Amino acid sequence: MKLYAAPLEGMTNDLWRPIHADIFGGADRYFTPFVSPNATYKFQTKELNELTHNEGLPVIPQILTNSADHFLWAAREMADMGYTEINFNLGCPSGTVTAKRKGAGMLSYPDDLQRMLEEIFAGLPTGMKLSVKTRIGKEREEEWNKLLEIYQMFPLSELIVHPRVQKEFYRGHARRQLMAETLAHAPWPVCYNGDIFSPADGANLEQAYPALDSLMMGRGLMADPALLRRIKGGSAATRQELRAYHDALWEAYRARLGGDLNAIYRMRELWNYLSGSFADTDKFLKSVRKAKTGAEYMSAVERLFAEKKLCENPAPPAGK
Ligand SMILES: Cc1cc2nc3c(=O)[nH]c(=O)nc-3n(C[C@H](O)[C@H](O)[C@H](O)COP(=O)(O)O)c2cc1C
Repeated sequence: MKLYAAPLEGMTNDLWRPIHADIFGGADRYFTPFVSPNATYKFQTKELNELTHNEGLPVIPQILTNSADHFLWAAREMADMGYTEINFNLGCPSGTVTAKRKGAGMLSYPDDLQRMLEEIFAGLPTGMKLSVKTRIGKEREEEWNKLLEIYQMFPLSELIVHPRVQKEFYRGHARRQLMAETLAHAPWPVCYNGDIFSPADGANLEQAYPALDSLMMGRGLMADPALLRRIKGGSAATRQELRAYHDALWEAYRARLGGDLNAIYRMRELWNYLSGSFADTDKFLKSVRKAKTGAEYMSAVERLFAEKKLCENPAPPAGK
């Protein structure tokens, strides 16, 4: 079973990927957080960073748009950069995205979705493979059959399924049971994504759905950066590894963002999940939220690493 790192906007970026791969052994594939091509036909600096710092890593760029024209422009740019596979985001649940019929917002318009996929496949650069990352619907799981029928019409390189509907965001449980029917009708490799937080979760999925080609992990991997290694039978993250991981990210953000405060904002997002690797972190998280300088931030981090136990089964905090 291949193991993929999910795209998480603001976290699994070009700075994070090599640090994660170096310390924890890497993923079979890293998917970039989405880039959003538009009528300017230019990538933003942040997007160019995502696309141009990936030497030696198996990185698949992800595109979010509702325009086949903008999609194909981005696909051609990515082909020129040397990418041979790209991913189409049909899962983002954010209100600002879905209001524009992008991400999971597109799932309510199956005819438009089919037309857009037809246009995309007709215009993809030669040799470029395309995978889709999708939710199972906008409102109700009954939408999935129709969507699956549409995906079956196209030569996807793989289908990555996060079996929640848009309106659930990340609440409740992913509907794993839909994978049986999905796999029964899948002409392409299928990747399962959703709520894999432990090696046991991975093993259960593998046992229940042996036809799955890969598993993708997002929040679980942010809570426990050694999750992929543990699923492969390897060791849990050590305190030294977590410290090296933290310090490398902190330094990388400080260098990129040119100041401690902006780097602290980024590290707060990381700690929302990574705190799951430690026991009893309420006070620590409060200190990190209050920290206004690098010194205040680092003193909270020093206390955490000096005083708190590691969790045996790290998990993302409830509600995240
Ligand atoms: C903060 C955050 C940012 C995300 N950004 C993206 C993104 O840019 N592209 C995407 O396809 N999914 C994005 N996702 C969804 C994840 O890739 C993944 O599908 C979701 O978290 C479910 O998997 P998990 O249960 O393993 O976390 C994001 C999720 C979160 C929580």
